[in-house]
Amino acid sequence: MNILGIETSCDETAAAVVANGKVVKSSIVASQAKLHEKYGGVVPEIASRAHIEKIYPVIKEAMEQANVGRNDIDAIAVANQPGLAIALLVGVTAAKTLSFAWEKPLIAINHLHAHLQSAMMTEENLELPVAALIVSGGHTSLYDYHSPLEPELLGSTIDDAAGEAFDKVATILKLPYPGGPSIEKTAAGGNPDAIDFPRSMLERDSLDFSFSGIKTAVLYYCRGQDMKGKNKVDSMSRQEIADIAASFQSAVVEVLVKKTKRAAQKIRAKTILLGGGVAANSSLRTALQAMCDSSAPPIKLLVAPKQYCTDNAVMVASLGYYKFKAGIFADLTLEPKSSSE
Ligand code: KG4
Ligand code: ZN
Repeated sequence: MNILGIETSCDETAAAVVANGKVVKSSIVASQAKLHEKYGGVVPEIASRAHIEKIYPVIKEAMEQANVGRNDIDAIAVANQPGLAIALLVGVTAAKTLSFAWEKPLIAINHLHAHLQSAMMTEENLELPVAALIVSGGHTSLYDYHSPLEPELLGSTIDDAAGEAFDKVATILKLPYPGGPSIEKTAAGGNPDAIDFPRSMLERDSLDFSFSGIKTAVLYYCRGQDMKGKNKVDSMSRQEIADIAASFQSAVVEVLVKKTKRAAQKIRAKTILLGGGVAANSSLRTALQAMCDSSAPPIKLLVAPKQYCTDNAVMVASLGYYKFKAGIFADLTLEPKSSSE
């Protein structure tokens, strides 16, 4: 069964054809990073316009690369939430149009659940219970995963998302956009113990996250407590900047790993899933693997392949297959939603 997946929730226009939820026949991602670079973040209006320009060529290329025509497609899956509403609207409208014109079923996909799908795509037998951590630019959430279709939210960020903190700290350090990969690269040459940035754990058994404190701590470190001092970043050596990046990254990773451990202990997880843009971070992948290995009994870690950590349509098409099999379809009244249901 071939599913065409469409993804436009933020700044990537993506389409993919995936067979039986597992075989990637094509994956096209048109990144808008260059367009948003000078603003240091995604501008919704610009994102929406760029999606309109790219959506048709991207879908066409995905179909050509997969060597399929409309008659080979069994359903169209589209991310309709959460994300930037005017960006999601472009993908949703394209998917509804194709569904109507080609007379194919339409499947609505939650973008966050799709991120976790990319971590379990190649797994044949998911050993339950499963704790899942999703770390992206807009979300940081822990789930108790009963099956690909039944995630139960255990906790989420009460302020900034982990990826957002990476992006904001990169801006403070005047590192290139997008921030996450820049911080990771810069941190590689730094000392993670150089600066003791705060690790916000919230209450003893809380599974929520807070990352605004650490971002502010980096800002104060660079500008002084009263924010009246000159930004010291311009006069800092490359080593000092690398040390800040490494110390920040290590603090964020420590919180993510400790909270995931808490969630895993709470639900006695046998498997941990990791997905979302920040899951591409090697330091997080390594630390989470070490935590899983040292647990008694050891926990199996499933991480999305790096190319499917950041936004893509493979994860949308793959999850679409399981919704198709479960008979969960949308109709032409489908609308984009900025927040998750
Ligand atoms: O999942 P994603 O592509 O989009 C959202 O759904 O938000 O995640 C994008 C986020 C950005 O904040 C980006 O800086 C972060 O993922 N990111 C990383 C890395 N690669 C992407 N953060 C840390 N280390 C990375 N290597
Ligand atoms: Zn995403």
